[in-house]
Amino acid sequence: MGPGVKRKRTILDIRKMKSDGQKIAMLTCYDYPTARILDESGIDILLVGDSVGVVFSGYDTTLPVTMDEMIYHSRAVARAKPKSLLVVDLPFLSYQTDIRDARVNAGRLVKEGGAEAVKLEGGENVVESIKAIVDMDIPVMGHIGLTPQSIHRMGGYKVQGKSESAGEQLLADALAVQSAGAFAVVLEGIPLKLAAKITSELAIPTIGIGAGPHCDGQVLVIHDILGLCEKYSPKFVKHYADVKAIISDAAGRFAAEVKASEFPTDDHSFH
Ligand code: KIV
Repeated sequence: MGPGVKRKRTILDIRKMKSDGQKIAMLTCYDYPTARILDESGIDILLVGDSVGVVFSGYDTTLPVTMDEMIYHSRAVARAKPKSLLVVDLPFLSYQTDIRDARVNAGRLVKEGGAEAVKLEGGENVVESIKAIVDMDIPVMGHIGLTPQSIHRMGGYKVQGKSESAGEQLLADALAVQSAGAFAVVLEGIPLKLAAKITSELAIPTIGIGAGPHCDGQVLVIHDILGLCEKYSPKFVKHYADVKAIISDAAGRFAAEVKASEFPTDDHSFH
């Protein structure tokens, strides 16, 4: 797909892209102006990820992110009326507690946040929640492998599925997420051969992040590709621009011109 998605993307398009052998491009997005730019750039899926907590709010992990924060960012992105599919993360503690919470919070992301699909982390352990949300006609994207909401179990942001048994469990998780009704699944931080195997065994698209080139699509965090997040720089991130340098240069020149009384000039003043 070239720049500028012309037609509204739905989950049907995303599923068809796998059968047509077309790769899926997904980026995170947390605000209105970025949503407009990404939509015009041909991104198939905008993900209001709970990574917002780390790259935007400055938390150390995604765990403190609340439903209200997710709804706030989702509404900002939805206001851009993107043709990209709008997927929004269910944050920690919004679906792990019980099925009713999962249903109510998925519903809130749609009703209050404008989400067109929700994403949640986990495999066999979240099957009942996925089924319950899909039964409400809310499309669900799964997320397995390195699941940041499980940081304390994993003992850090570590590649998952390295042993044979861990790989088999991840394949079982992927199949369980698919059987529960998910329309796609994110594979994060797993060996590329395992991601290729899962991708070939699933009918639904896999979207990789740190999972190699054989997934049906790829997702990255927008702040990472723009060079705006200095906290972590995982191996799988590619820097497509140095926006930090651009902001720093612009702010520095503004400060210098103000101090030298070179800004504002007559052109920027009212008479
Ligand atoms: O929260 C997020 O941004 C994510 C992506 C990295 C997949 O879950």
